[in-house]
Amino acid sequence: MNATTDALAGAAVASDDSAAATFAADRAHVWHPFAQMQEYFDQPPLAIASGHGGWLTDTEGRTYLDGTASIWTNVHGHNDPDLNAALQRQLAQIAHSTMLGVTHPVGAELAAELARLAPAGLGRVFFSDNGSNAVEIALKLSFQYWQLTGRPEKRGVIGMAGAYHGDTFGAMAVGDSGFFHERFRPWCFPAEHFAAPHCREWAGEIRAADSAASLSSLRALLTAHAERTACVILEPSVQGAAGMKLQPPGFVREVAALCREHGVHLILDEVFVAFGRLGSMLACTEEGVTPDFLCLAKGLTAGYLPLAATLVREEIFTAFLGSYESRRAFFHGHTFTGNPLAAAVALENIRKLRALIADGPLRARSACFGRLIDETFSAHPRVREIRQRGFAAALDLAPSRDSAENFPVARRVGLQVCLRARAHGLLLRPLGDTLLLVPPLCLSEAELGELVRRTARALDDVLPS
Ligand SMILES: Cc1ncc(COP(=O)(O)O)c(C=O)c1O
Repeated sequence: MNATTDALAGAAVASDDSAAATFAADRAHVWHPFAQMQEYFDQPPLAIASGHGGWLTDTEGRTYLDGTASIWTNVHGHNDPDLNAALQRQLAQIAHSTMLGVTHPVGAELAAELARLAPAGLGRVFFSDNGSNAVEIALKLSFQYWQLTGRPEKRGVIGMAGAYHGDTFGAMAVGDSGFFHERFRPWCFPAEHFAAPHCREWAGEIRAADSAASLSSLRALLTAHAERTACVILEPSVQGAAGMKLQPPGFVREVAALCREHGVHLILDEVFVAFGRLGSMLACTEEGVTPDFLCLAKGLTAGYLPLAATLVREEIFTAFLGSYESRRAFFHGHTFTGNPLAAAVALENIRKLRALIADGPLRARSACFGRLIDETFSAHPRVREIRQRGFAAALDLAPSRDSAENFPVARRVGLQVCLRARAHGLLLRPLGDTLLLVPPLCLSEAELGELVRRTARALDDVLPS
């Protein structure tokens, strides 16, 4: 324990009775996302009661570093005083008011702010409430655009191998998440996938990179099918859910050039990579790319509330204008679209993040994270491969770093390490036998050190060498 955890230990501790009541209600009634519930029932239960900064406290008073940034969302920490104040100010005005046919001040202000952050030309913002919806909206807008402009045959979609864009049907259709979505294939529209590039990078150093085969497979698909293709969709820079699979710098620019050359839209899904996760506000601006659609969610509200946005090129937006009878309108919307509480928090998040990026601390922290990972894991006997960029890292676990052998799936090694990490005061989530380290961006260098050391301790406990 360090000073921070000492100060927090005991905060928001529920009585034994109320912790037991939580577990009983959970066990009896909750169906958890992505979970084999039979396996979940066999695990020690954990309920988070409160959070401060990068730390979480459970209902029994134990503290944990939030090593997943509460599923890749948290930016400035939990219970951030500025975000709390922004939320409370908005709450004193109104919690929710619709964007169907009317607007509200924070929604309009946030749309303008997002347009300022984005590359010039991406000036129109369609709000929704989660990443999958942001993707669905981009896809539907692309399909409808080609219908409205006299090219209804342009219906196809090209995604990248390993892509994850969410769990709704359109997002599943264009993704490539193996057995996660396989059983739903018969209900998904067809999509093509091009090969992913290869890139190994950590601690700011590219160790191997090859995008030639990937780009030539995209070129081949576009050459054959561009006339019937509406859009290419890509998670730029890092495919998070594939296990932090990286793209070499310049790759997104090449993909954008191919899309332009072949007259198909480019959708960039920055649901994971935006808002400081890779050290910058947006990955597309780092690459100097203006997509036709840009999907944002997760870090948009710094991990506070559900909100998503699909940014659209103004020229695409104008194709939807006409009389009501023309049926050119985009008939899509969600009840909580552009929720004012979420919009107010997003504005404060962006204000704080601008300063963190401009003043340099984010860059220093992400460099420190890379260094710590390098020092701790680059020669670790159980870590076969490392991938790290910004505040996103993956460690592929293996019986030996020098052989191609994997652990038996049923051993659930990744899960065992993450369960063990709880005993060291750290919450992590695995992806198979890959450990994903995705800290809140607010962690100090000392806390990043704790994150890496506690991960190593859990790994060594489960897989002693
Ligand atoms: C790149 C990407 N797109 C879309 C999604 C789906 O977002 P949500 O879970 O908010 O629907 C995710 C979620 O992890 C993601 O990483």
